[in-house]
Amino acid sequence: MRVAMIGTGYVGLVSGACFADFGHEVVCVDKDASKVEMLKSGGIPIYEPGLDLLVERNVREGRLSFTQDLTDAVRTADAVFIAVGTPSRRGDGYADLSYVYAAAKEVAEVMDGYTVVVTKSTVPVGTGDEVERIIRETRPDADFAVVSNPEFLREGAAIDDFKRPDRVVVGTNDDRARTLMRELYRPLFLNETPIVFTARRTSELIKYAANAFLAMKITFINEIADLCEHVGANVQEVAKGVGLDNRIGGKFLHAGPGYGGSCFPKDTLALTRTAQDAGSPLRLIETVVEVNDARKRAMADKVIAACGGDVKGKTIAVLGVTFKPNTDDMREAPSLEIIPALQKAGATIRAFDPAGTVEAEKLLSNVEFVSGPYFCAEGADALVIITEWNEFRALDLPRLKATMKAPVLVDLRNIYTHDQAGNAGFEYTSVGRPHG
Ligand code: UDX
Repeated sequence: MRVAMIGTGYVGLVSGACFADFGHEVVCVDKDASKVEMLKSGGIPIYEPGLDLLVERNVREGRLSFTQDLTDAVRTADAVFIAVGTPSRRGDGYADLSYVYAAAKEVAEVMDGYTVVVTKSTVPVGTGDEVERIIRETRPDADFAVVSNPEFLREGAAIDDFKRPDRVVVGTNDDRARTLMRELYRPLFLNETPIVFTARRTSELIKYAANAFLAMKITFINEIADLCEHVGANVQEVAKGVGLDNRIGGKFLHAGPGYGGSCFPKDTLALTRTAQDAGSPLRLIETVVEVNDARKRAMADKVIAACGGDVKGKTIAVLGVTFKPNTDDMREAPSLEIIPALQKAGATIRAFDPAGTVEAEKLLSNVEFVSGPYFCAEGADALVIITEWNEFRALDLPRLKATMKAPVLVDLRNIYTHDQAGNAGFEYTSVGRPHG
């Protein structure tokens, strides 16, 4: 089967490479000449473990290619995926669909023969209808179907999520499109992955509802963590005891500094806007958005309190600035709220991140980035773990403490225990575990 993937951002590139690995012939299209050149010469513009090898192998075996030329790729394609960005519109929180609609128009102008146009980008309910209208208006003669096929890829685990998903969701009422989509995902059905065939609007909503639910789960456990601190309970054990109930499940119950990333903040906000416009507000999700925003700011106060109520003139060492491990992505990262708040309170920040430095330097000012955790801690008045990179999980705590000015450790991801930190001589603060 021949696939054209419009957009070589995170979703497009991972999906394109994985479809090629399923045996399809995939052409990835991007307007950005430098990106296409980079991909053609074997470079990968994003950080995603395993993606370089996957792309290299599929290019070598002739199933994956990159181009700026949409026309050729689309004309011969059985399926055209639209995987362009849908950023939050500045000011109002609505998803900006201009890239999706522009892509739909360009595709319409050149498509040839029966073509399935698939929206992979996360798009508000009703976007598929508009894409269909645009294509029909541009090319009244075209033979096509517009399908919604949302992605559920987590950064850092995207290849595995694509190849071993919990489910595939396909929204269309067109029988030919359904058959084609089943064929595209055929290798998954050999592993008995469930495929949810549904109407297009329902499929679009599934994506938002799933992300909103996960964001709500995280926010729920974060508030329980705060309560634990007030009543002397341990949030990790609460999460375990609660999560063992199959109806709830233990995943996404790790308390921390608040969710960030390219999806949850943007999608929860866009969903609340859709719901308000539809006259059916989602008050739970509106609250989730508010609570999560406030939480990121509150984490700076937690650090200040751990430093005895004042950080003026103090040096704070920060480990991890990306919104989660195994990515260089800084979008909506809690560090972007926490670090400026600490600077405003008078602290000097020194930081280390295994992959995020280049991005972080664009977004944070007056932060000294160093090359490792031990350098970072040297002479510091406090050490704060914001992102739980694996390499921070087994640090030599006595060695760290020996070089620090004051023995303060703030662990916003609960990767150490009170005993471990206490035995190394640290005064230890974590999230929702006041005693141990
Ligand atoms: C998410 C969804 O998981 C994915 O299905 C969707 O397609 C895109 O958005 P991603 O943003 O890559 O993926 O990261 P994810 O692992 O879901 O984490 C999101 C945020 O929630 C991170 O800031 C993470 O630190 C936080 N989180 C996650 C918690 O604080 N606690 C948890 O238990 C889980």
